Amino acid sequence: MDKLKITGGNPLQGEVFVSGAKNAALPILIASILTSEPLNIFNVPILKDIETTIYLLNFLGVNVHKSNDSLMLCADKVTKTEAPYDLVKTMRASILVLGPLLARFGEAHVSLPGGCSIGARPVDLHIKALEKMGAKVNIHNGYIEASTAHLPNKKLIGTKIFMDQVSVTGTENIMMAATLAEGRTLIENAAREPEVEDLGNLLIQMGAKIKGLGTDNIQIDGTPSLLGTNYKVMFDRIEAGTYMTAVAAAGGRIKLKNVNPSKMESIIEKIKESGALVHINDDQIEVIKSEDKILPVNIRTGVYPLFPTDMQAQFMALNALADGPSEITETIFENRFMHVQELVRMGAHIDVKGNTSFVKGVRNLDGANVMATDLRASASLVIAGLAAKGETIIERIYHLDRGYERIEEKLNQLGAKVERIQ
Ligand code: EPZ
Repeated sequence: MDKLKITGGNPLQGEVFVSGAKNAALPILIASILTSEPLNIFNVPILKDIETTIYLLNFLGVNVHKSNDSLMLCADKVTKTEAPYDLVKTMRASILVLGPLLARFGEAHVSLPGGCSIGARPVDLHIKALEKMGAKVNIHNGYIEASTAHLPNKKLIGTKIFMDQVSVTGTENIMMAATLAEGRTLIENAAREPEVEDLGNLLIQMGAKIKGLGTDNIQIDGTPSLLGTNYKVMFDRIEAGTYMTAVAAAGGRIKLKNVNPSKMESIIEKIKESGALVHINDDQIEVIKSEDKILPVNIRTGVYPLFPTDMQAQFMALNALADGPSEITETIFENRFMHVQELVRMGAHIDVKGNTSFVKGVRNLDGANVMATDLRASASLVIAGLAAKGETIIERIYHLDRGYERIEEKLNQLGAKVERIQ
């Protein structure tokens, strides 16, 4: 299994071209199920999770042609409506095929995703909403068996849906299902994340009638069918935030290209609070960290536009090196502090009490052998390794490959010393 060997202590200098957003690309590729016409999607990041999504779509019978970061998808010959356990267990976001399969074909057999290292990750809100739209749903042998065969013209029925909890993929699943339903669906307490908005903008280009994207009330008027189109995936704000945090921790001066700063305000504010300088213009962000001192930054994760949970682990690494104490509270997932013990092995002083971590910054972290436990925890260990004294070996970096395109190449181009080893 691959490992990353990082020799810390080098400041980061240069330019980073930020890739397309994993969490926008996944639902956007899956939206191809909603139409029999070709969909051309650009700026798709080359990641393990994208490969898994393509594999799942191929399994269903969707034709996918890939060239570099562009994909042409065509679901005119879908032969299956099943997402098998072996696939879903490797990528929870596979649950996103549930709504589109049900809406287009009137049936879906999707394995329950099960939990993951950061939490139970239930999908009850997805199921409850589809039942409210008239679907018959049974859980059988670990599978979600959903059908609309009993409904007039086998179509889901638009209705008002209040999401008990803000759910990103829950909102995305229901929004996709509602595009082909009879009548109007109103999603209340909808997710406002930019990735949800990006999916919604694609659906509108496909002919869907959607209002309220980016707000917590999304209105969808169902149409009989959707069209093919061309679409460019938005930038990955979490990848961008990760590189910004890396330079805030390791020092240096980097310029991020292909970004939209207006979608990263909470992250930019916290980077500034940590003592780094940030200059922004329309599609670039420059981060400069010259003096050694890192200021501690209190973090409380929340739904967009609050500070994203996907940036919590990265800021834990930054705070571990800060000149003073800080608190990090995780409000979204119940077990998203798996990186703490690994950072402690590098010399960090962190105590976890419930959903808050109390960090006492130290002057230096020491390179060590550490283990990645989930995607963003891995990013946290990379940041710590870049700033630490000596050598850090990160094991199980398949977690990292799920969400960061060519990370060692991009970091080495910035002057870091990162090597992928067996
Ligand atoms: C999406 O996961 C992202 N994944 C996650 O990114 C991200 O951390 C998360 O949103 C929060 O922003 C993708 O977009 C593919 P949720 P999702 O449904 O949709 C509870 C990464 O690192 N909940 O918004 O699965 C849930 O337990 C990944 O890129 C229910 O209780 O998250 C959690 O506490 C990790 N029942 C909260 O809601 C449900 O039916 C928010 O989860 C659904 C969710």
